[in-house]
Amino acid sequence: MLVSATPLAQSSSYWAQGGLAAALAIDDSPARHLQDTLIAGRGTVRRSAAEVLTEEAPASVRDLERLGVHFDADRRGRLALGLEGGHSVRRIAHAGGSATGRRISRQLSALAAEHERIEVLEDCRASAILTLDGRCAGVRCHDGRVVLTRAVVLATGGAAAMWARTTNPTGSTGSGLLLAHLAGAELADLEMVQFHPTAVAGIAGAEGFLVTEAVRGEGGLLLDAGGERFVDELAPRDEVARAVAQRMLATSTSSVGLDMRAIDPALFPNVVTVLHDVGIDPTRELVPVAPASHYVMGGVATDLDGRSSVPALYAVGECACTGLHGANRLASNSLSECFVFGRRAGLAALDEPPPTGRPALPAAARPPALTQASRVALWRDAGIERDADGLRTLLEDPYPLVRLLAASALAREESRGAHQRRDFPALDPALDDHHTVVGADPAAPTLAVWR
Ligand code: SIN
Repeated sequence: MLVSATPLAQSSSYWAQGGLAAALAIDDSPARHLQDTLIAGRGTVRRSAAEVLTEEAPASVRDLERLGVHFDADRRGRLALGLEGGHSVRRIAHAGGSATGRRISRQLSALAAEHERIEVLEDCRASAILTLDGRCAGVRCHDGRVVLTRAVVLATGGAAAMWARTTNPTGSTGSGLLLAHLAGAELADLEMVQFHPTAVAGIAGAEGFLVTEAVRGEGGLLLDAGGERFVDELAPRDEVARAVAQRMLATSTSSVGLDMRAIDPALFPNVVTVLHDVGIDPTRELVPVAPASHYVMGGVATDLDGRSSVPALYAVGECACTGLHGANRLASNSLSECFVFGRRAGLAALDEPPPTGRPALPAAARPPALTQASRVALWRDAGIERDADGLRTLLEDPYPLVRLLAASALAREESRGAHQRRDFPALDPALDDHHTVVGADPAAPTLAVWR
């Protein structure tokens, strides 16, 4: 049974403009993909997770092709692989240019909806995870329906819409993380949120709209107010986002220019359409862009088969934290992650025994809704740069995930990847391989080594 709060195809994945990173090119290999992932993750990538991803991603692309997804190909019918920041070779499989997420979500939603052994409950929000003798035994839905199962796999997406400026759909506020936390599952690396360098800025109707990194892979340039380049546009994302923010500060501007004038607009049809709709012609003018929160590397702590710390409760995709992304996700590793780890979790979940009784129903409790005030506070106090004074103010925020995130960010007294502390500006090598784990005492996250 698939329980979905929104229509099936409405998700962050549906919005994804990047593609699937997979070592498919003749000059590529899983070992090379692994190396790029480790470098981008700044010393905290869980190597075993990255090995699984990089070895299994090519088969995921082939699986999707068998399921009817048509990836972009060149004239000879070979996959037309794209380049994004931090990748040392062309490695990104796209479908419909920058419409990859839309194409894949549509195709898989249609297959799920038609499948005789999949029951789909759309517009049905899971409101609690049920446990029996310490095991997950099902979910309760907002309308009171109870679903008893041998396992629950959370695929509820991320939390990047908690920040005032975001590329994400408004629903990405970490609801799955909170459900798992209430059921006793450990969360990890909540302080690690990735800011995308090129979200449209200052244009009504397109504020926060993502202009895919693949544009820079095709030669797009970042120019400051004086028309100068100031960063290697294809450096890993944490580096580029920080450089953009610093250049905006230095030049007292609220955006920099993305120059895609030399790029064939046919490569990015949905980007160009949105820009045209708001009056920007990217073939003639610069696109004003600035960083926006984009992806949370943290989530429900899981093993390599998606198992959380609560037996029979699994998590996959952005709501999970296998440790794969470390402190800075390599572009387009996340769609690949959905399919590689989704498959592993699905197979593992099938081996769980059925529940042996009826779980007690917890009292119905709705967490307070995320307010605009919390979103603004997060942007200010847990943005591209943070410090202890700002983070401490978030410990009192009404939205529980904001408090957990602030506690995690305070616990990591260093700067690493997406987590930049003004008061601890250097990376602490003693914290290599350490993940921030929120367990039984949410106010006191611990730092643990994951292999
Ligand atoms: C992008 O297309 O720039 C985003 C892809 C990703 O977040 O991996």
